[in-house]
Amino acid sequence: MKFETNWRPDRSRGIPIYRQIADYVRSKIESGEWPTGSRIPTERAAAKVFGVNRSTVVQAFAELAADGLIEGKSGSGTIVSAASAWDKQVPKLPDWESYVKTGVHRPNQRTIQDINHAEFIPDIIRLGTGEPSPDLFPKAMNRIFRQQPSQTDIFGYPEPRGLYSLREEISKHMTGYGISVSPDSVLIVSGALQALQLIALGLLKNGSSVLTESPSYLQSLQVFQSAGMSMWGLPLDEEGLDAIALERYAASGKGTLLYTIPSFHNPTGKVMSLKRRQDVYQLCVKHKLPILEDDAYRDLWLDKPSPPPLKSLDQNGLVLYIGSMSKTLSPGLRIGWVIGPEQVIHRLADVKMQSDYGASTLSQWTVMQFLRQGLYEEHLDQVRKELRSRRAYMLQLLESYLKEAAEWEVPTGGFYIWLRFKRDISVPALFDAAIKDGVLLNPGYLYDKADRNHLRLSYSYASFEQMKTGIERLARSIP
Ligand SMILES: Cc1ncc(COP(=O)(O)O)c(C=O)c1O
Repeated sequence: MKFETNWRPDRSRGIPIYRQIADYVRSKIESGEWPTGSRIPTERAAAKVFGVNRSTVVQAFAELAADGLIEGKSGSGTIVSAASAWDKQVPKLPDWESYVKTGVHRPNQRTIQDINHAEFIPDIIRLGTGEPSPDLFPKAMNRIFRQQPSQTDIFGYPEPRGLYSLREEISKHMTGYGISVSPDSVLIVSGALQALQLIALGLLKNGSSVLTESPSYLQSLQVFQSAGMSMWGLPLDEEGLDAIALERYAASGKGTLLYTIPSFHNPTGKVMSLKRRQDVYQLCVKHKLPILEDDAYRDLWLDKPSPPPLKSLDQNGLVLYIGSMSKTLSPGLRIGWVIGPEQVIHRLADVKMQSDYGASTLSQWTVMQFLRQGLYEEHLDQVRKELRSRRAYMLQLLESYLKEAAEWEVPTGGFYIWLRFKRDISVPALFDAAIKDGVLLNPGYLYDKADRNHLRLSYSYASFEQMKTGIERLARSIP
């Protein structure tokens, strides 16, 4: 179990620190949060999290052991003792450890768990994070929050497809991309990620196979695999997803669905050319292969807009289209949308109702106001301007510090630079060394298990100063 808590001993309380730690652990045991047999954090991990010397933790644990609450078990570290006071009252306990291991959903990759944890270490420099920096959050948010939503808009459960007023705005917004869709075929979801989950659970059979780019954001997730599906990675070239490989897979019957990120691809930043979009679309029509187009980064073009979405080419209802407000407005709102044939939208909405009864109405209302008042477009201008200077600065740093060791292409939008090391180096070791040095990286192997020599860098999150320190430290960590 990863040890994560926001609790810290309070030096101003006049109670010895070791005693505060012992009391903290005791309360965890007595409340059943740490049941009998569960492993307690190592002394080293606890000392690190609490920001104290290891000897202080040793003293606290010694007191708990003397009270019979914890015991050392060879091979398992220190565990909550069967003789703990709570256990005496409830002799038969579920073995949570085995439940945790048998749940249907697969755990995140270990490195992703580490990243999710490390992102909240104070002062860590996040060089790979795929979200806008707090500096990029919309200033107009305060203005919107000062307006009063009508009670009927936000206090009830929303209808299955989401607030009609937001679906209307999304439908208008999509016209600007060449997608003509009525609000009836728009489903509001709690982030694009939920769209993937709904599709995995609501549309695909166990045993299906999903084709996708390699590397891909999708390969960093376990959404489809947890639903019993396999994933096939297709190569990318300078025009995007390799159409010849796609044809080969599709013709051999491998593939129930194609998932693609044609615009400002995560993690490579690539943009699929218009010609390739047409080819991919035609191939999928020929093989009756549905396309899941993830367009989360479309609005973040920096040099020129990306070619029209595959969905805009689609008169056959072959493409399911996903959009998101996470990369532009803010990920905490958790608002995305899916567009597709009406029966698919109803099916996904039905599954959604069974999982969360709808995305937060307050978030839906907020996004609707952004779109309706034209504030979204204004905000995008700001974001693009800021991202352009961030991109320029990151590229300048790479030129100065990493030119010998690595190579990269200049992304034309989105957040990412796909950095390739010219020599063989151990990226897992680099990841560990960088964390020790206060820098958090996103290794390429998260997006393609076989990848050995890439990092996904992001210019969207760290401040300018952090970018400089981070890249300097990264350059220093390369063996
Ligand atoms: C391509 C892509 N799709 C979907 C998501 C998830 O977005 P959301 O926050 O809307 O769930 C991400 C986030 O990194 C992404 O990069």
